[in-house]
Amino acid sequence: MNKNQSFEAITEGTTNVLVFKNKESKKGPGSKDKVPFYNPSMELNRDLSIVMCQWLINNSKSHVNLLDGLAASGIRGVRLANELDGDFDVTINDWNPDAFKLIKKNIEKLKLKNVESTNSNLNTLLSQNKFNYIDVDPFGSPVYFIDSAMRSISNYGIIACTATDTAALCGTYPKVCLRRYGAIPFHSSVMKEIGLRILLGFVCRTAGVYDKEIKPLISYVTDHYFRVYIQIVNSTSRANDSMKNFSVVKSNVLIGAETTKEDIGPMWMGKLQDKRVVKELRTILFEKQLKTKNEVWKLLDLLEEEADAPAFFYTTDGLASALKKSPPKMEKIFEKLKNKGFEVTRTHFSPTGFKTNAPKNVIEKVFK
Ligand SMILES: C[S@@+](CC[C@H](N)C(=O)[O-])C[C@H]1O[C@@H](n2cnc3c(N)ncnc32)[C@H](O)[C@@H]1O
Repeated sequence: MNKNQSFEAITEGTTNVLVFKNKESKKGPGSKDKVPFYNPSMELNRDLSIVMCQWLINNSKSHVNLLDGLAASGIRGVRLANELDGDFDVTINDWNPDAFKLIKKNIEKLKLKNVESTNSNLNTLLSQNKFNYIDVDPFGSPVYFIDSAMRSISNYGIIACTATDTAALCGTYPKVCLRRYGAIPFHSSVMKEIGLRILLGFVCRTAGVYDKEIKPLISYVTDHYFRVYIQIVNSTSRANDSMKNFSVVKSNVLIGAETTKEDIGPMWMGKLQDKRVVKELRTILFEKQLKTKNEVWKLLDLLEEEADAPAFFYTTDGLASALKKSPPKMEKIFEKLKNKGFEVTRTHFSPTGFKTNAPKNVIEKVFK
């Protein structure tokens, strides 16, 4: 290990872990030789993976093998090993030699028995092994690992991935999005939802190659990253059904309050959340000791609320500027739309956003 490298001990959940101390920035570098720093802003992301993996173990009839594929210090993997209950083991992998040494140090420090550490290229590891849960948490885009993850994942297993290339997915760099995801984004008030659907569309398309269905269990966006948990089922007929949700939104179609100028996508047009699973996750969350518990609770609350709502959303500020009116209170809009018999929900995509099955002319009328 590099002699100049310094560590610090931090606690997440109920686990005390050594991580690389970051003196300069909160963002870690991406190359194999550079030391990957601990990113405290990802604690909620890691906390939710604890809850999801507990759900997977609780719902499995046999032994579950979990993989933290891009582990850095190994914080996610050692937390899984330390904080989950049931019949499971964890593999923690990183190709960076310093990261690998730190992972081993953390495993020894915590005296964990159900863990193995590996120092491989993730794509190589996935080509040689099968897992029930694969966590892909890269710097930037996860696309480089999705094909091998799809081949490695066991039937009814979960692929979890983070994407931090938000500028590509949200349409600031449309050419990058097209190259990576094979899809055209839409830089607009609904760009986060489109980006999330493009990421899921990419996974759906890859699953289709291997006759697999995708079932998004939880999908969400924050200011810094996209995150999806997708259950994968082996079935040609279900893969065909899954592909029915993979489509292009044609030009001149209304998305939220905005009209597309060109075709966008292809992307996933199916559900983003599984309402039943979100409910079960909340029960598990209740029992876990997590620092971000309240935030995760609020997020799951919103995801459950919007689980069955239609694709895309309106924002009160977006409508206000389009209609040159000051925005009415959200509660007023909700009350009026509900009184007219329409469904309306909040959305995690935006604090001023709402999803509804009401047509735009009705929304405008309510707004005015
Ligand atoms: C964003 S960091 C992971 C952060 C970590 N999951 C956490 O929660 O703190 C990405 C890691 O991926 C590793 N990495 C990048 N490409 C890899 C590859 N092809 N195979 C294995 N590890 C890789 C890097 O060394 C880095 O440690």
